[in-house]
Amino acid sequence: MKPYETITVEKRDAVTLITLNRPQALNALNSQVLEELIEAFAAYQADASQRCAVLTGSGDKAFAAGADIKEMSEKAAADFYLDDFFSPWTSEIVKKTRKPWIAAVNGFALGGGCELAMMADFIIASDKAKFGQPEINLGVAPGMGGSQRLTKAVGKSKAMEMCLTGRMMGAEEAERANLVARVVPHEDLIEEAMKTAATIASKPPMAAIANKEMVNAAFETSLDQGLVIERRIFQILTASEDKKEGMAAFIEKREGQWKGR
Ligand code: CAA
Repeated sequence: MKPYETITVEKRDAVTLITLNRPQALNALNSQVLEELIEAFAAYQADASQRCAVLTGSGDKAFAAGADIKEMSEKAAADFYLDDFFSPWTSEIVKKTRKPWIAAVNGFALGGGCELAMMADFIIASDKAKFGQPEINLGVAPGMGGSQRLTKAVGKSKAMEMCLTGRMMGAEEAERANLVARVVPHEDLIEEAMKTAATIASKPPMAAIANKEMVNAAFETSLDQGLVIERRIFQILTASEDKKEGMAAFIEKREGQWKGR
């Protein structure tokens, strides 16, 4: 495996911290970043010692200022279409990462940067974070999920306004609009995100995956189908060793010791 050049990966106990590391380009997302993120997320998913991940941006200014405009400017429409450009972000990262991960947004999250943050299970934002889908200014439109995930998160009116005007939304507005779970002071962002990730990592890991799968089902199905998915996953979990342990630990007034099965 080649060493990463555009990201860094660090394991802190059961939490993997992945940092986008092209600060000179405001962490713009080029093909190499995508390749390295796919590898890093696959490694996180495969490593049984790792139970939650945090994705953030290096430098003080940006989480990611979008897909790399310089790289895209040199491509023809046929390249985008034939390569199904942007498809691996969902097929290789979102769909294959069944374990939980958090986006810790430390500054600009624009275009693909906003879209990448929205791929996370939830977003914790610094009070300096700025979200936007400014693709219209480049003569294009969101391509990594912005028109869909932003609309599902904040509703049609605000998503439409953001996409049509390209304006940025600050952290407080993003929290009011339900785009982010929580806003924290800029200097505390990584500590807070890692603390939240450690809390998730301390939970029974199979139940964590199951909770994620259920909440995600709410975006893909009708209420009736979603409720069936929820009940079936709940019922499967009742056969787990961690269910037996979790309930025994409650009754015996002690901490649960999780097996992850
Ligand atoms: N791609 C490539 N390079 C980028 C970039 C991007 N998305 N965003 C910033 N950079 C580069 C700049 O070119 C600049 O590099 P140089 O020093 O070599 O010129 C460096 O990062 C610093 O950027 P600025 O000098 O522009 O910094 P600023 O503080 O003046 O402005 C900003 C910050 C408002 C975020 C501005 O950089 C900006 O508007 N960036 C582009 C945002 C954007 O349009 N994102 C959407 C991209 S398209 C997309 O993402 C498609 C999709 O749906 C997936």
